Amino acid sequence: MSHDIGRNAIEIEALRKTYAGRAGQPPKEALKGVDLCIPQGSIFGLLGPNGAGKSTMINILAGLVIKTSGRVKIWGFDQDVNPRQSRAAIGVMPQELNLDPFFTPRGALEVQAGLYGVPKRDRRTDEILELIGLSDKADAYARTLSGGMRRRLLLGKALVHNPQILVLDEPTAGVDIELRQMLWTNVRKLNEERGMTIILTTHYLEEAQEMCDEIAIINHGALIKRDTTKNLLGLMDAKTLVIEPEGGAPEVFDLPDGVKMERRRDGALVFDYSRGQCSANAIFDAVKAAGIIIGDVRTMEPDLEDVFVELTSGK
Ligand SMILES: Nc1ncnc2c1ncn2[C@@H]1O[C@H](COP(=O)(O)OP(=O)(O)OP(=O)(O)O)[C@@H](O)[C@H]1O
Ligand SMILES: [Mg+2]
Repeated sequence: MSHDIGRNAIEIEALRKTYAGRAGQPPKEALKGVDLCIPQGSIFGLLGPNGAGKSTMINILAGLVIKTSGRVKIWGFDQDVNPRQSRAAIGVMPQELNLDPFFTPRGALEVQAGLYGVPKRDRRTDEILELIGLSDKADAYARTLSGGMRRRLLLGKALVHNPQILVLDEPTAGVDIELRQMLWTNVRKLNEERGMTIILTTHYLEEAQEMCDEIAIINHGALIKRDTTKNLLGLMDAKTLVIEPEGGAPEVFDLPDGVKMERRRDGALVFDYSRGQCSANAIFDAVKAAGIIIGDVRTMEPDLEDVFVELTSGK
């Protein structure tokens, strides 16, 4: 998945954005000096709670929002020095639906290609319609498309100039499961077959966990964590073991230090512990010593959601 190891698709330095306060509101510091490099060829997740500043950052990359200060390089081109080249290297699917209701999907893709100066012979309109699953709606007015179809058309528009970097701001919000899977399959294909660098935001953390090589978490306009998905998951050393006893369990019995036990209504025993402090074996021993017969056992691993909550809960 990593083409051209060591080179960055995006380099962001000391990026700040303060929105002017409107109607008597104080100014809003949406980005408070963010440094972030995103390697070429990666699938990179930008995560954070509502209002963290994700869309602000993405819209600055897209040239839709003017930064207050800082430096942004896209595919090696400084946004302020080489605006045309930096713009050509990136395609952005925005969070907000901003489609002209009187364009058909085919029309919208053609106009977008024109805006990016893609010559007619190099346009891939039909291929893109196919990719976003809108071939049969190619000539329907955008206003007659469903919400999910409109989002997919936004993805298509981001692809017309065949950018090296594709940025997706909540591409699957309000999209049904089947289409979501189709979208992710296609995004993966763009990454694997064309080496396209993918940057995405999503509030579905299981998607991020499954899709992303690396993840940055931002909160209140600041970067609070950036690591590989694997390392982030490794941060959590909480474990859960669920034992279903055969024929009941005594009210109280001895447990190793640091283990918390809860009894579920169906009789299952739920043990919470940290890997550093205790082992599953010690729990089995305690359970057997109490005369409990183990009917079934399950373990639960922490997921990205747990990591996210831990890092953003303000602790
Ligand atoms: N045009 C604007 N004018 C004033 N404030 C804005 C503007 N756009 C965003 N903000 C504020 O900047 C902060 C960051 O917003 P942003 O849209 O970047 O967050 P986000 O991380 O994308 O959130 P979400 O997950 O809800 O999409 C928020 O407090 C938001 O209210
Ligand atoms: Mg947003």
